[in-house]
Amino acid sequence: MQHLITTADFTNEEILKLFDDAKLFLDLSSNSLLLGKLIVTLFFENSTRTRSSFEIAAKRLGAAVVNLEVQTSSTKKGESVEDTVANLNAMKPDAIIIRHRDCGLPASLIEHVDCPILNAGDGTNAHPTQALLDLFTIFEHFDGEVNNKKLAMIGDIKTSRVASSNLELLPRFGVEPILVAPEHFMPKTDFKKVQFLKETIDDVDIIMSLRTQLERHEKIYYKSLEEFGKDYCVTSQSLGDRDILLLHPGPVNRNIDISDEMLKDKRCKVLEQVRNGVAVRMAILKKLILKQ
Ligand code: CP
Repeated sequence: MQHLITTADFTNEEILKLFDDAKLFLDLSSNSLLLGKLIVTLFFENSTRTRSSFEIAAKRLGAAVVNLEVQTSSTKKGESVEDTVANLNAMKPDAIIIRHRDCGLPASLIEHVDCPILNAGDGTNAHPTQALLDLFTIFEHFDGEVNNKKLAMIGDIKTSRVASSNLELLPRFGVEPILVAPEHFMPKTDFKKVQFLKETIDDVDIIMSLRTQLERHEKIYYKSLEEFGKDYCVTSQSLGDRDILLLHPGPVNRNIDISDEMLKDKRCKVLEQVRNGVAVRMAILKKLILKQ
């Protein structure tokens, strides 16, 4: 049984095969590959993109989807997540998709199930499907020629699970991350680090902007998000006329992470990421449920 807990669960070869499938799914048309299959989603943290993307991906493949509404579930009566998942598993779903604030929780559920577990984000730990769709978007943009591309990752890198997953995944395909953040948002890694985007803007092919994760901070680092945005917002002025691909996993804090103007710029592929996300998740569901 194969699960997707972190990007390390898939080999490079498996990921390239996944991307071949995702390309076939890119028009997001419906098929019946997973007709008769049933997928359960359990989101203990808020989500717009990941939850709807998984649901749409499953339905485009012909599967039925049950979204457990956590707010009205028996976890509110004190049932543990492990018991909740074991009970759902007893109803024989074909996959369980879970998002939870506790790092490592999806991995700990594997022993309670007979179907694939897909991690839709666990605390600051991992968001493997986001990193896979980010890499797919980079592959699509550069027609597969991603080796030696340089990517500036800017913002609250330390608490971002999107960052953790991308920092595991991107270097495996020759994409070099350069971390752009103030000291308190900088993780402990050996990747190149700079404090401001202007120090590396002329070196990079891609910028990945990240949201400031206020909900995960133990203390207040800035008087306001606007204060942070003055130094770290990606604007038309910071990019100039450079040919740089601009990404963001969403949700975007407008004019804090990326300016309104840059969000409309054709170099900004935020909505392409969202669209690609459905195709990539279709490919992942096909791989884990049909084992092909
Ligand atoms: N990128 C992402 O995880 O977005 P959501 O939190 O809306 O799912």
